[in-house]
Amino acid sequence: MSRSLPAPPDAGLLNAVRFGSDTFRFLEGVQARFEDGTAIPVPGRPPLVVLTNPELIEAALDRREDFPRVDAQGPAAMIAEQGLVQSEGELWEQQRSAMAPAFAGEQVAAYANTTARRADRLAETWAAGPRELNLHRAMTAMTIRVASEILLGEDIGQERADQFHEWMAVAGREFEFDVEVAMPEWVPTPTSEEFETAAEGIRGLSEEMIDRRRAALADGGEASSDMLTLLLQAAKNPEVDMPDEQIRDEVATFLIAGHETTALSLTYTLSLLSWNPEARRRVREEAREVLGDGPPEHDDLADLKYTKRAYREALRLYPPAWAVFRQADGDQPLGDYVIEDGSAIITPQWSVHRDDRHFDDPETFDPDRWARRDPNAVDAYFPFSTGPHACIGRGFALSGATLVLARLVRDFDVDVPENALDDLRITPTLRPVDGVDATVRPAE
Ligand code: HEM
Repeated sequence: MSRSLPAPPDAGLLNAVRFGSDTFRFLEGVQARFEDGTAIPVPGRPPLVVLTNPELIEAALDRREDFPRVDAQGPAAMIAEQGLVQSEGELWEQQRSAMAPAFAGEQVAAYANTTARRADRLAETWAAGPRELNLHRAMTAMTIRVASEILLGEDIGQERADQFHEWMAVAGREFEFDVEVAMPEWVPTPTSEEFETAAEGIRGLSEEMIDRRRAALADGGEASSDMLTLLLQAAKNPEVDMPDEQIRDEVATFLIAGHETTALSLTYTLSLLSWNPEARRRVREEAREVLGDGPPEHDDLADLKYTKRAYREALRLYPPAWAVFRQADGDQPLGDYVIEDGSAIITPQWSVHRDDRHFDDPETFDPDRWARRDPNAVDAYFPFSTGPHACIGRGFALSGATLVLARLVRDFDVDVPENALDDLRITPTLRPVDGVDATVRPAE
């Protein structure tokens, strides 16, 4: 007979509060204690469910209609309520199928080559001499320019890239995770003026880019298969209902989703490599062998095996998307359990990726584990999520980031203090609170 998931022993609001105040310690405790998951009672509401068993996680994330997304709320809704990262149901289906071609085939190579060019330019600046910098800011400025160029057909330039980093830092403070945020009936608190300015900035930039693209297409501009062109073409179809706000939300969504997680993952990988000199030496050796003295390109990827493993391993230890959130629509069977209607559901990459039932020596940065295991066959490893909403940009991120790492590590020692990632802000993504200070020197 089906039953509820067990509750923690001193169940109740106390647990929910602990979850909100020391999220990772709480999740790691739950992960160690419960094989399948736990349902934390919350007074007056359906429970908060944390799933710990990768099989159940996969099963839940596969069933989009039974376990849909929590509606976009508060600050997220202010930036891009109807974008693909937030949407569900028919709207999501229409958006995902309109955009899928922009993320497949030749577009992956184009993205990888655009990223490689941008990394090459950054490396040329760094080559001028040793410097101290905020690594997170440098990675954001690079990836936002790639995202705008390849997805929206226009490089936004360095100044606006820096501005975007500031907007994202403000949004990060506003999005700070709180247990309430995961709840379907969450009531938004007023947002700060600073955040409203940042949200307006992101929306304004998105509108500008759409206007320019529309004008270029009307002037008979080159047909292209970037995401914005596909979207504008789809909107012209009389059978598709795609109002302007939706296009704007989509552009804002892609400006954010297309760069933020990649910038974070590069920051975390370079930090881990700085603390693991042998791994860094091996990435450098491989990069020198494969790239020679030249810039990296898509065709090099097949030979950058160790570099890609190092990247995958960083995504395990520091998954930029630290958890995925869903809710139960109706009482839903899941494995041997029933998940109560309206339950908030959390599937936490952070703690599943660090569970010693699934990974030997889970706290160790060991890129070679991905030589022994196929990452696509390990259901406890899901940095890009799984099921129908799984990341549409996965191929972009894996190929682009591998080339960036090869290019930068080949020529530079990027050194990061040991405690740089001790204080991470838990927003929908995992962000360094005050950036990541790094020293960059030409490598021997
Ligand atoms: C290291 C880099 C990245 C990570 C860790 C990451 C992670 C994720 C995760 C976990 C999801 C699932 C969210 C959910 O199930 O609710 C997701 C979805 C998504 N990602 Fe990524 N992502 C990355 C890079 C990218 C890039 C480069 C793009 C765009 C170019 C992108 C665009 C999206 C979009 C549009 C969705 C929503 C897909 C849908 O619901 O159909 N992501 N990503």
